[in-house]
Amino acid sequence: MERQEELMREILFAPSLLGADPLNISGSIDSLGNNFDWLHLDIMDGHFVRNLSFGPAFSQALRKKYPDSFIDAHLMTNNLETVLPLFIESGASSITVHAETEPHLLHAVISTIRNAGIKAGIALCPPTSVRQIESILDIADLVLVMSVTPGFGGQKFIESSLEKVRELASIREVHKYNYKIEIDGGINENNIVRVVLAGCDVIVMGSAVFREVNPASWLADLRVKIKEALKVDRT
Ligand code: DX5
Ligand code: ZN
Repeated sequence: MERQEELMREILFAPSLLGADPLNISGSIDSLGNNFDWLHLDIMDGHFVRNLSFGPAFSQALRKKYPDSFIDAHLMTNNLETVLPLFIESGASSITVHAETEPHLLHAVISTIRNAGIKAGIALCPPTSVRQIESILDIADLVLVMSVTPGFGGQKFIESSLEKVRELASIREVHKYNYKIEIDGGINENNIVRVVLAGCDVIVMGSAVFREVNPASWLADLRVKIKEALKVDRT
């Protein structure tokens, strides 16, 4: 039993602060108890997506208030020349950029993030295929599969995203790559097990977690459900 637990894949919960109470974000974070792993921070610029959200000052404030937290910054922005240095300086633990933003510069951008000692991620919008980033998967720490159109929380999960997750998991196995697979958009208690069994390691959840009266116990219950499902999957 203990041995089995040891061998079990680590699944990380990354609540998205976009789903938190905008007038009491620290209250929302505290409501998670210790039952989360990363804080997912969605950065939107009104150009790459049709919405605006947090800036680097917010990331800095998070780092100051929660010094030990893992801040998972998801940049849904154009203009990386300006935006990226601001987030590198902001205390983020990982920075994920979209493959669609500046595809010809992606290799350099990922290298810049890693050279700053920060985990580097590549995000794919629903219509973007894995093939488009295959040549740089060897240097990615994280690949984020968007399972909704980026820009807003509370949307419906796009089922075909699971195919992309399976493809990424299989490429990783064949080439012995190290990236984690993260999924973002429309995850809830009804689809999370399928998402984990498809190969996801990091699960972003916004509206589903923060609409709960007791997010901490909801997350704890989900953790148990996932452990059970992984055990069955191994037998
Ligand atoms: C969408 C964001 C997501 C979003 C997830 O552009 O990247 O992180 O907050 O929220 P839910 O879980 O509500 O789909
Ligand atoms: Zn996100």
